[in-house]
Amino acid sequence: MMRARLTIDPATAIGPVRRRTFGSFVEHLGRAVYTGVYEPDHPESDEDGFRRDVLDLVRELGVSTVRYPGGNFVSGYRWEDGVGPREERPSRLDLAWHSLEPNQFGTDEFMAWAKKAGIEPMMAVNLGTRGILEAVDLVEYCNVARGSHGAERRIANGFVEPHRVRMWCLGNELDGPWQIGHKTAAEYGRIAAETARAMRMIDPDLELVACGSSGRDMPTFGEWERVVLSEAHEQVDMISAHAYYWEKESGLQELLVSAEDMDRFIAEVGAVIDAVAAGTKSTKEIGISFDEWNVWYIDRDPSRPPTGDDWPVAPRLLEDNYSVADAVVVGNLLISLLRNTDRVWSANQAQLVNVIAPIMTEPGGPAWTQTTFHPFALTSHHARGDVLRVAVDAPTIETFRFGPVPALDAVATWSADSASLFVVNRHTTGGITASIEVPGGCLLGDAVTLSHHDPNWKASTTEDSRSVVRANESAHLTGTTLTIELPPVSWTMVVLTPP
Ligand code: AHR
Repeated sequence: MMRARLTIDPATAIGPVRRRTFGSFVEHLGRAVYTGVYEPDHPESDEDGFRRDVLDLVRELGVSTVRYPGGNFVSGYRWEDGVGPREERPSRLDLAWHSLEPNQFGTDEFMAWAKKAGIEPMMAVNLGTRGILEAVDLVEYCNVARGSHGAERRIANGFVEPHRVRMWCLGNELDGPWQIGHKTAAEYGRIAAETARAMRMIDPDLELVACGSSGRDMPTFGEWERVVLSEAHEQVDMISAHAYYWEKESGLQELLVSAEDMDRFIAEVGAVIDAVAAGTKSTKEIGISFDEWNVWYIDRDPSRPPTGDDWPVAPRLLEDNYSVADAVVVGNLLISLLRNTDRVWSANQAQLVNVIAPIMTEPGGPAWTQTTFHPFALTSHHARGDVLRVAVDAPTIETFRFGPVPALDAVATWSADSASLFVVNRHTTGGITASIEVPGGCLLGDAVTLSHHDPNWKASTTEDSRSVVRANESAHLTGTTLTIELPPVSWTMVVLTPP
């Protein structure tokens, strides 16, 4: 066993735990919507066709916000196709995922589902193939109480109360050459600024997110943010960041330190935000909306869309099956997002159901949870109050991308009645005994660890993921020193009651 020392000190507060850190994402992609959240023929479904078993798991996951309807899908979407009588809605080719979109679930269904799930909707408008007017029409449809064409149309469709959507993404990944309507930073910055201005003429309280880079490795990263913010700084509140991690040829150890990349990405976007603000002498603060993040085995077969004449409805796409190691990475990415709470004002794990998701379903069959469900659910339910920086003195591991990095990574949260430590051991083989200094008078509550003797272990429809999270019986508190054993490739949460 190697040894490490950590210190939890309430004087190291970075900022508040933001509920919006625990957002998720439902895109019209694969089976996220159809046979995911919506399956009218399923025996578990309610009167709206929403799967009750999925709704229960979404609540258990502790999701705060859900981004909708895309993703790449939104750049070819006509939102009008998805409202009104279902029998009149057209089926359209979804070019992003080479599928057929039947439009049986649209904006109103999503809002009804969001209400039942108890989440805040975060909508995206299509700035790939459409423009200011269609975006404004959607805001009018959603948020105007009555009297206008859009508002009366919503009321006629059975939704008398406005949906009151506050958070809006101004398009999706328009820096990406794969995006329908891909733009240069200057082209996008102009349309984003003008769309934002027009949307705010309807509702000045909207919170608007400009597209940042779809990855830190994009050739335009940095310059894209600079140009977009130079155009739209005064019109938007946040700029987005997207990051996906998967095990490459460099191996498991490299995947396990992915949060190092996320930390650097956030710091770099933050630096550009500050540089633009300094250049324009603006006092307006801009945050980061990390509105797509996850482990995603992007180059494997489940991520290949259909081709040719095959345009299926809700095909099995991006249905990655996650290992214990993947779940440890997800837990570590959440540690990074919390640690950066001063910069990251909102975040969305991509995605929620079936598509690179913590929740899986079988059509007509059960819903089940992946390993990645647990670090998300436990962090969301136990992170309260302020985020604290945790000092870590741990053995290091050598990595290709970042040189030596600490084997442990941790963050803590602190409120009047509860404190929590979230810590990962990213070493592939070595267990670590951690001695953690905590403020005097703390009481030890639950300590749980997610790990498995085989880090490649995965859950399935028949093998439940819950067995990978167990009470960590090694935890004990003597005076102000908490001692705990952290197995290799593990994620741990320790709950304390503050004095
Ligand atoms: O989440 C899957 C896809 O990843 C989204 O549609 C797109 O925005 C990103 O490239």
